[in-house]
Amino acid sequence: MVDLTGFRRSQGVTLQPITFAVLVFSLIVLRVSAVEDEFGLDAEPARGYELTMDAEIDDALLLAPNLDNGRRIFQICTECHKNNAWGSDDGEFPQIAGQHRSVIIKQIADIRYGNRDNPTMLPFAQRAFFESPQGFSDVAGYLSSLPVTPRPGIGPGNDLEYGAQLYKKNCSQCHEDNGMGDDETYFPRIQGQHFEYLVRQLKWIRAPS
Ligand code: HEC
Ligand code: HEC
Repeated sequence: MVDLTGFRRSQGVTLQPITFAVLVFSLIVLRVSAVEDEFGLDAEPARGYELTMDAEIDDALLLAPNLDNGRRIFQICTECHKNNAWGSDDGEFPQIAGQHRSVIIKQIADIRYGNRDNPTMLPFAQRAFFESPQGFSDVAGYLSSLPVTPRPGIGPGNDLEYGAQLYKKNCSQCHEDNGMGDDETYFPRIQGQHFEYLVRQLKWIRAPS
């Protein structure tokens, strides 16, 4: 009789370090392949997405992005958002680099369905540009992996301390202490965005035109 218990046990002992090594290795690979900015945003899909009424968007949210393909598709957007996706300092074109993947998908969906009124961006929020739900996920993942500009457009900032206080009191529960937002909950990153664009968005959210 073969001692199955002994066999299993010895197999377990020899396999464990290998399994461990494979795990460590894949974690390292994941870490390297997910291009990260200084805050550690990555392009992995998170859990906890809410489903929408649009199958393309639901699929895009759940598909793991291919960053190279995202870079390719993004080329049609660079006319306005620029090569590094930093937009323009005057806030005409928002910075979209470093934004959360889920937020980018949701923002584009909102523009497509008219929840946000922006005729300039509207044609580029259409399905055809993203080729497929996978392409949509790829562009959003690629953008979220890019570093933000080190020199965003800034405002006069007469009383930054007061601003910080107000932010902590009224905004940080959603946008986080550092303005980084959250991919899981769709709260946008507002840290590093151009001043003029932030002001414009706040005005529009308060009183839609
Ligand atoms: C013709 C210029 C133009 C092109 C091309 C363009 N966009 Fe935009 N995009 C804009 C403008 C202007 C806004 C600001 C919309 C607003 O203020 O509501 C914007 C907003 C966005 C936003 C929302 C940003 C935020 O912080 O709310 C995302 C995401 C975005 N664009 C992604 C893309 C992608 C991806 C493409 C390519 C498929 C693209 N855009 C092509 C002009 C453009
Ligand atoms: C209860 C949660 C919550 C609080 C509190 C909150 N926000 Fe937001 N904020 C959001 C969400 C969600 C969005 C995305 C809205 C959308 O896309 O429809 C948003 C969008 C924004 C945008 C537009 C970002 C973009 O890229 O388009 C700005 C700017 C902003 N918030 C600033 C602030 C400031 C400043 C405060 C405090 C005075 C604040 N928010 C408080 C949840 C919150």
